[in-house]
Amino acid sequence: MSDSLDSISGLRRTHLCGEITRDLLDEEVVVMGWVQHRRDHGGLVFLDMRDRSGLIQTVFNPQEDEETHLRSHGVRPEYVLALRGRVRLRPPDMVNPKLPSGDVEVLIRELRVLNTAKTPPFLVEDDAQVSEAVRLRHRYLDLRRPKIQALFALRDKVARLTRGYFAENGFLEVETPFLTRSTPEGARDFLVPSRLAPGSFYALPQSPQLFKQLLMMAGFDRYCQIVRCFRDEDLRADRQPEFTQVDLEMSFCGQEEVMEILEGYMALLFREVLGIGLSLPLPALTYDEAMLRYGTDRPDLRYDLHIEDVSELLSSSGAKVFSEPLGQGGCVRVLKAPGAGPALSRRQLDDLVDLAVSSGAKGLAWFRVSQEGWQGPIVKFLSPQERDSLASALDVRPGDILFFGADKADVAASVLGRVRQALAALLGLDREKSWKLLWVTDFPMFEYSQEEKRLVALHHPFTAPRDQDLGLLETSPLNARAKAYDLVLNGSEIGGGSIRIHSPEIQARVFRALSLSRSETSEKFGFFLEALSCGCPPHGGCAFGLDRLVALLSGQESIREVIAFPKTQKGGCPLTEAPAPAAPAQLAELFLKSLVRKPEGRGQDLVPASSPGSPASR
Ligand code: AMO
Ligand code: AMP
Repeated sequence: MSDSLDSISGLRRTHLCGEITRDLLDEEVVVMGWVQHRRDHGGLVFLDMRDRSGLIQTVFNPQEDEETHLRSHGVRPEYVLALRGRVRLRPPDMVNPKLPSGDVEVLIRELRVLNTAKTPPFLVEDDAQVSEAVRLRHRYLDLRRPKIQALFALRDKVARLTRGYFAENGFLEVETPFLTRSTPEGARDFLVPSRLAPGSFYALPQSPQLFKQLLMMAGFDRYCQIVRCFRDEDLRADRQPEFTQVDLEMSFCGQEEVMEILEGYMALLFREVLGIGLSLPLPALTYDEAMLRYGTDRPDLRYDLHIEDVSELLSSSGAKVFSEPLGQGGCVRVLKAPGAGPALSRRQLDDLVDLAVSSGAKGLAWFRVSQEGWQGPIVKFLSPQERDSLASALDVRPGDILFFGADKADVAASVLGRVRQALAALLGLDREKSWKLLWVTDFPMFEYSQEEKRLVALHHPFTAPRDQDLGLLETSPLNARAKAYDLVLNGSEIGGGSIRIHSPEIQARVFRALSLSRSETSEKFGFFLEALSCGCPPHGGCAFGLDRLVALLSGQESIREVIAFPKTQKGGCPLTEAPAPAAPAQLAELFLKSLVRKPEGRGQDLVPASSPGSPASR
């Protein structure tokens, strides 16, 4: 193809491919984009052209322009072309009702090949079957696919709605540093060695938590930022090492005001993105209620499976499975799956028992209820009276199946919570297309870390205790509840926040409960404590996981789908092959030695310490 014909110069794009409709009939247009398909129909050549806006069919007819027609034979998928031609109607039998531009085509007079393309490793089509590894290796091709481009258009829409909403409500966007010190979220930090301060490191922020609080102390009143956060943690479908938060903070407010602002934000997103009107206020459960009824602090309420405590009913049971845990101060809880009995095979039941055991239970007793009676591994140990009282307390009907967890309360809750989730997956209940949004509030201030042998903060150590629980900080810290709230959508934690401590005295008491010495706190957070004692307004806030939010709103299983260049499970980028070894000269500049491979059998030495080394866990 000759060079002079293949430059963009002198040619201006008049329309995007998807904009060409009947309204432009007989007009001359110039489109630029990628070749989707090429079809040779005897004399006529058809090229489907694609750009971000969609597809347009173009036609090359030797009678229109012989040379152009000839040149169209050399074109291949993914070539980049500029085409000039006239819009005309397609013959009625060639109309494609699926495309906005499906009843027209462009008869081409001029073709310029702006660039050629190698044969792509997969077809740039929505339904191309291709592994994620190959997709990510060639992400720039993967991202060309229309459905994926639509996800990023949605992400952009959410980001713009977010900025608009918070700006309208008086929030100021302020950028906060990436090169900073450890922040209090409690995952492992990514460290950046300093060249100017040999042997010292910056930490990439796990969130802007401390900075946004400092901005409140600085009198900014309301802050919001769409911001990248970095956490070196094990990755899952809903976790990435770098991810984006909609991060916000407000001054002179209580929990209700923060929640009201956030509910307004959710209502806006649901209306503008899904066309759904949310009814406000959103439902709320306390953490204790959620754990008791659903066995998790982020219950999926799309399905009506819940857990009841039946300890009292079974308090004098002769079944050892129940009497032993009860005798040791434990409880018996039951998960009822209405009507699910006949749908579950013995094998599926065994799998659920295995799941319970691998989640820390001693077993998972179950009863299948039918017209003929109750059936299950320990049915013979249950007295007729116990059976009757369970049946009436739980409104048991033929077809139901009951699962029992007898253990310490926290174990019974988390085991049945997992069984509940697995059961919903088996029954297909978690694929239901509905939206269940709720608050979970009143989280415990602390939990006990077996690893660190001390209390750690459940949210972060700047979270305020409830006023009525202040006294518990010293006497019974595990019972102290926080002014903390999470927003849960279909079983996913999409956001979390709290009212913060604004009094240096209470902050000191919380640090004491966390067994942090004065020197530790002043070393890690001295600057922050000093700011706290210089006139800090009452304040609170929240952060949403933007990636999670967009993935859920667009029905994606993994947040990787809505991140342009995500990392794999192992934290790598298949496209750039990051992370990569550094050159010795670069290391020397940073006063670092290169990693020396340990001899065989000593690989353990390379495993990082399991304690994240930060004062809190999430
Ligand atoms: P938290 O740690 O709960 O709170 O994070 C807030 C929200 O961020 C999302 N999220 C993630 N998304 C993707 N990948 C990850 N690795 C990841 N980790 C968290 C979740 C979560 O709800 N500074 C506090 C907020 C505050 O108190 O205002 C914080 O970061 O959707
Ligand atoms: P075992 O007495 O251990 O053989 O258990 C009898 C039945 O009770 C089996 O179906 C176990 O899965 C179940 N089971 C055992 N321990 C518990 C427990 N703590 N909670 C619930 N079910 C249990």
